[in-house]
This record gives sequence, structure tokens and C-alpha cells, in this order.
Amino acid sequence: MKGKLIVIEGLDGSGKATQTQKLYETLKADNRNVMKVSFPDYESNSSALVKMYLSGEFGTDPDSVNPYAASSFYAVDRFASYAKNWKKFYLSGGIVIADRYTTSNAVHQCAKLPQEKWKDFIEWLFSYEYELLGIPVPCCTVYLRVDPKISQELLNIRYNGSQDKKDIHEADVGYLRRSRQAADFCAKNLGWNTVECIRDGEMRSVEDISCDINKLIESVIK
Ligand SMILES: Nc1ncnc2c1ncn2[C@@H]1O[C@H](COP(=O)(O)OP(=O)(O)OP(=O)(O)O)[C@@H](O)[C@H]1O
Ligand SMILES: [Mg+2]
Repeated sequence: MKGKLIVIEGLDGSGKATQTQKLYETLKADNRNVMKVSFPDYESNSSALVKMYLSGEFGTDPDSVNPYAASSFYAVDRFASYAKNWKKFYLSGGIVIADRYTTSNAVHQCAKLPQEKWKDFIEWLFSYEYELLGIPVPCCTVYLRVDPKISQELLNIRYNGSQDKKDIHEADVGYLRRSRQAADFCAKNLGWNTVECIRDGEMRSVEDISCDINKLIESVIK
């Protein structure tokens, strides 16, 4: 009896970790068999290449690593996490909530390609990770939609205004803008569930957003 994989996706600083934790607490309080995972898995050696990439060892411009190479760094980290930490749990019927997943490769690596190449890239990506590597397909992807300007402000608060703590994705505003276009494209074309996190130019409260997500997930897990 296979379990369920729920993915919380969104741009940098959109509230993924916050909402993953909230959903985890909600399901736990409902006595569900649930665990949460987060990608990249920075605790594990399997994220070594992701760390090298994000810290700029291959170049400080995100475009210095092509989308297929960068996707591979993240994909093998997910394979390792699945094999070591949650395959057994998932295959025995557990609910897994993931803060980022293969879907993050779709968002962040499409941003390096012209839009006419997005569809082919996503087809390659999903076939690589879900079919060839064999990691699970999400049953539901929640897309936390924010205005990059506002999520950047939240990140600035987190980093106390210090730019040099940002990784190469976070530090590149143009890249972030293209990532938002890619994320909107994915949400529209891949059946993601969009949760609008901005209202009247401001971030909605954590509770408000969490309420929307709980309603969505109720119908998914029944
Ligand atoms: N609805 C909200 N309103 C205001 N602040 C929020 C909200 N949700 C999250 N935050 C704050 O914004 C920052 C980013 O949130 P969080 O770490 O959950 O986002 P993230 O999507 O996981 O970020 P990253 O992409 O960098 O991993 C944190 O400091 C968090 O406390
Ligand atoms: Mg996070």
C-alpha cells in the first residue's frame, strides 16, 4: 500500500519551511502517519554538489551550470534521501510532506532556458527523476505564490540585510523574476494547486495561508 507525497513548492522565501511545519503539525494532531523531508538535504553528504553549486564554486552566475547538470546535482540528493530516509515509510502507506522536490528543479532550472524550451525540459526532468531514478511522483503539489519583491524582503530580514549570506540563486534578482514566470507556467500546466500568499501587496498571515493548505490537503488524503 503506497503512501502519499505532498510537495510544498514556491520561490525562495515564500514560506515553504513555515507551511511544511504547519501542515505536519495539523496532520500529526489528526493522528496521521506523517513525516516531513526537506530538499536539498543539507545534513547529508548527498547534497555536496548542490552546496558547491549554490556557493558559486562553478561560477557565481546561476547560468554557469547548465540546467541538466544542475538538475542532476539536486536529483541524486533526492534519490539518496528517499533510499535512506523515507522509502520504507512511504511504501508502507505513510504521508510524506516535502519542502521542495523535483518541482524545484522545474522552477529554478527552467529560469535558465527560453520559454519555448520549458515543456521539453520538464518532460526530460520528470522522466529522469520519476521514471529512471525511480523516486515517487507527488500526489499533490502546493504552490505558494508570492511576489518576488516581497519574498526578497522576508529573506533580507532573515539575513539581517547582509547580502553575502545569500546563495547564487537568492542574490540574483533577475533570475528570481524568471523563476517566478517559470513557477507560474508550471502551476498552470502541471496541475499544481496555487495558494496566493499575497493580499493587497502584503504577505497574508501564516495562519491564513495554512488554513487554505489544510482545506486543499483534506480532499487529497480524505
Ligand atoms: N506568512 C508569512 N508572513 C510573514 N512572514 C513569513 C510568512 N511565512 C514565512 N515567513 C517568514 O519569512 C521567512 C521565510 O520563510 P520560510 O523559511 O518558511 O520560507 P522558505 O520558502 O522555506 O525559504 P527558502 O526558500 O529560503 O528556503 C522566514 O523568516 C519566515 O519566518
Ligand atoms: Mg526553506
